[in-house]
Amino acid sequence: MKPRDQAELIDLFKRCRNDFDLFNVEVLGRPPCWSRQIEIAESVATRRDTVVCSGNATGKTWLAAGIILWYLYTRPRSLVVVTGPGQTSLGSTIFKEIRRALAGAVVDLGGKISTSPGASPQIFEVVPGSGWEAMGISTNSVERLSGRHAKNLLVVVDEASGVDEEIYQAIDSLNYDRMLAIGNPIRPDGRFYDLWRQAERERDRTDIPDAHKVAAIRVASTDGPHAALERSPFGLADAGWLDSMRRRYGDQSQWWKVHVQALFPDTLADGLIPPEWLDAATSFRRNDPFCNDPAAGHRRIACDLGEGVGRDRTVVVVRDDRGILEVVAGDRLGLEEAAYEIKRLADTYCVNEQFISYDAAGIGRDLRGRLERHGIRRARAYHGSASGGKNFYNLRAAAAWNFRCRLDPAGDPARTPFHIPYQTWWPEAREEIVALRFEVIEGVTKLENKELLAARLGRSPDFADAIIQSFSY
Ligand SMILES: Nc1ncnc2c1ncn2[C@@H]1O[C@H](COP(=O)(O)OP(=O)(O)O)[C@@H](O)[C@H]1O
Ligand SMILES: [Mg+2]
Repeated sequence: MKPRDQAELIDLFKRCRNDFDLFNVEVLGRPPCWSRQIEIAESVATRRDTVVCSGNATGKTWLAAGIILWYLYTRPRSLVVVTGPGQTSLGSTIFKEIRRALAGAVVDLGGKISTSPGASPQIFEVVPGSGWEAMGISTNSVERLSGRHAKNLLVVVDEASGVDEEIYQAIDSLNYDRMLAIGNPIRPDGRFYDLWRQAERERDRTDIPDAHKVAAIRVASTDGPHAALERSPFGLADAGWLDSMRRRYGDQSQWWKVHVQALFPDTLADGLIPPEWLDAATSFRRNDPFCNDPAAGHRRIACDLGEGVGRDRTVVVVRDDRGILEVVAGDRLGLEEAAYEIKRLADTYCVNEQFISYDAAGIGRDLRGRLERHGIRRARAYHGSASGGKNFYNLRAAAAWNFRCRLDPAGDPARTPFHIPYQTWWPEAREEIVALRFEVIEGVTKLENKELLAARLGRSPDFADAIIQSFSY
């Protein structure tokens, strides 16, 4: 029921002081919270620190935006500091949700919100000029925090696992009265993880009053109210989404653990290709390798270049859509020899020169001239660091993902399984491929940094790189 006058409105705000969902429904006019959202809001009302590990699409940002407005309107002259991994992502998520809530509110809340989503810092002022406000803070604007005080001060950290320590330190100096840190448990390190561990340590202690303990709440995407529904009318995690993520990453993956089960990963990255998929690829014989069946697609050659001085290898891979046909590798193959091998293999396998690629970073930039001397003028220069489109960190990650998809037994059933011949080079190549790891950060798939991979392997992953390169176009 809409309050009729100022007195009724003040009374409503008073009744909402410790009841977030009342505010949410009666003031903001939004649908009610689901059970775990209520649990989180109650914790913010009663505890100093609340840490929430959550899966994707559980309504984190929606809840955080509501809590910010609730806190401001039920606590006169309060201050809310909002932060996240980047000012831009803050602008596009929490403040966007605040705008939406204000626009749909049953009661005219007044106030003034910074108009441009890119403004830094983003501010929502309850009474313009009074300091009674919510302000967004990023690494670039963190110094604006110093000297800010308020009797009631709430800190909201969205995507809290990705926030810099520098920001947490600035937050510490605020002597806040409430903090809500919420996000996917992406990294088993940093402040978010430490707070979670602190909560676990304090849970059973009798010498600390409950209100002083850090509260830890875990919300898996599968706990959501629409997890069994084919399609959520609100955009919360639903069966369709869960099923598609299960098929993409597997429910044993680190990705599933972090983004669905809301558990901290043991390591930072997932193995890119399960060893079983590789073993399946070497477990059968291919009986068509030399026939020119157009269904086997274009034959292609990819070359990863070593220095030719014995430190790392040059690897040349020949494959078609059905599998790897031949691999030539050697630690004494310099540029000249590599060009010769490419020419020889191109002739043997009738590879069209536009399907020949070579790693053009480092010494590879000098290969073009050598190939031209063999009459190969249209080979492709491959740069792993080039763009991989909007879902991949770079071309190397996109190509590696293509390789993974080609091996995935749950992939297109109409395609013949990919074949890898078990030859002398395979054990080493297999070891390199198994060592490849990936992580997904804010929707962008990234391969583990090559130096880290090389350090773990004790050598440069030349076989894996050449094979990945062959999947880059
Ligand atoms: N209790 C709720 N009632 C209705 N819609 C909700 C509720 N909680 C969240 N939503 C909606 O669900 C969608 C996903 O919520 P969001 O906060 O973006 O999730 P997350 O931050 O966990 O990924 C958004 O469209 C949001 O408006
Ligand atoms: Mg969110």
